[in-house]
Amino acid sequence: MVSLDSPITIIRPEIIEFGVGTAERLGKWASDKGYARILVISDAFNAARVEALGLKGEITVFADVTPEPDTANLDKVLAAANAADAQLVVGFGGGSAMDLAKLAAVLAGSSQSLRDVVGPNKVHGPRRVALAQVPTTAGTGSEAGIRALVTDPETMAKLAVESIHMLADIAVIDPSLTFTVPARTTAATGVDAMAHCVEAFTNRKAHPMIDLYAIEGTRLVGKYLARAVKDGTDAEARAGLALASLYGGFCLGPVNTAGGHALAYPLGTRWHIAHGAANALIFPHVLAFNTPSVPEKTRAVMDALGRKTSDDVQSVFDAAYGFCADLGIEMKLSALGVPDSDLDAMADDAFVIRRLLDNNPRDLTHADIRSIYEAAY
Ligand SMILES: NC(=O)c1ccc[n+]([C@@H]2O[C@H](COP(=O)([O-])OP(=O)(O)OC[C@H]3O[C@@H](n4cnc5c(N)ncnc54)[C@H](O)[C@@H]3O)[C@@H](O)[C@H]2O)c1
Ligand SMILES: [Fe+2]
Repeated sequence: MVSLDSPITIIRPEIIEFGVGTAERLGKWASDKGYARILVISDAFNAARVEALGLKGEITVFADVTPEPDTANLDKVLAAANAADAQLVVGFGGGSAMDLAKLAAVLAGSSQSLRDVVGPNKVHGPRRVALAQVPTTAGTGSEAGIRALVTDPETMAKLAVESIHMLADIAVIDPSLTFTVPARTTAATGVDAMAHCVEAFTNRKAHPMIDLYAIEGTRLVGKYLARAVKDGTDAEARAGLALASLYGGFCLGPVNTAGGHALAYPLGTRWHIAHGAANALIFPHVLAFNTPSVPEKTRAVMDALGRKTSDDVQSVFDAAYGFCADLGIEMKLSALGVPDSDLDAMADDAFVIRRLLDNNPRDLTHADIRSIYEAAY
């Protein structure tokens, strides 16, 4: 286990703008920097309101980012980026758009391809373009981080690229951009933010310097997620979740997630279940499984979520399950169109995600993973 004297590296965007009404500050920042050719990487919904960013100059908008983007979607982004020859790349959307913006910023005009940069620290620097990130969901925290995830359609695995060269120069977090997120996506993305915090907090590599953000992010989700699901225009609740998402992003860099995300990934890559919805479905199972290894931290998590605290595996499971189910999230794999004949293959896929499983406070064997899928079915 890690202690307060263990080395850690903290990396943050140089500027973080936060608060309702901050979106248009991006335009002023870009003008002050003299960026005239700008490429905005976005999904269809956000591309239609790009004027919210107040950008001036020659602006190209890529509007075709798909949820849980795959390598084909990235190829389209890179073609657009090569053609635009921008000075500034802006990721404007959820994690999907922001992750592709990171890759566009380092791969466009580079001799490196995606395959060359998968893994940690493979990207050759320095980056030739500026990078700004503007999240429109409150979940991934990708605006603050150095990772990008793209699905490989052949292996149905997430390719993870990690590089300091993908760090944003500026992140503009305007909670009002999330008012339009539908209730279901609000619930799922909010649980994703919470899962980043909880999995970092209960992690083998958990560090006191990050625990602070992890437990506060969990508390913010406990306090505000149900409110935002009920009323999407509740500005205080949306701001609370935007902050939780950012704090989750702070957790991802130096600590990262663990068993929960490893078990959730096959649901997204094999069955296209939204990332947050997959995390929510897995969350109570892994939290309960881990309880004997991290009882005090599990109590702190349940307390932060405003639920009953306990060391008892079944009570932890019931409370965590209730938290997600009360948000209207579907908690049964069978109801999401996953055939039970796929559970073995899902367990095979999850079991090889060592970069995350090795962070889990309690060893998850292949059989443990298989039985969690069975229980979630
Ligand atoms: N880089 C990281 O550290 C990191 C961390 C976690 C997840 N991720 C990745 O992020 C992706 C998921 O991102 P996400 O959960 O933010 O979802 P998303 O970006 O895929 O967006 C989900 C849907 O919501 C829509 N949408 C986005 N903003 C909206 C708004 N304000 N109003 C209405 N609709 C809106 C999008 O068009 C899309 O259809 C996955 O690929 C996941 O692997 C990355
Ligand atoms: Fe996540």
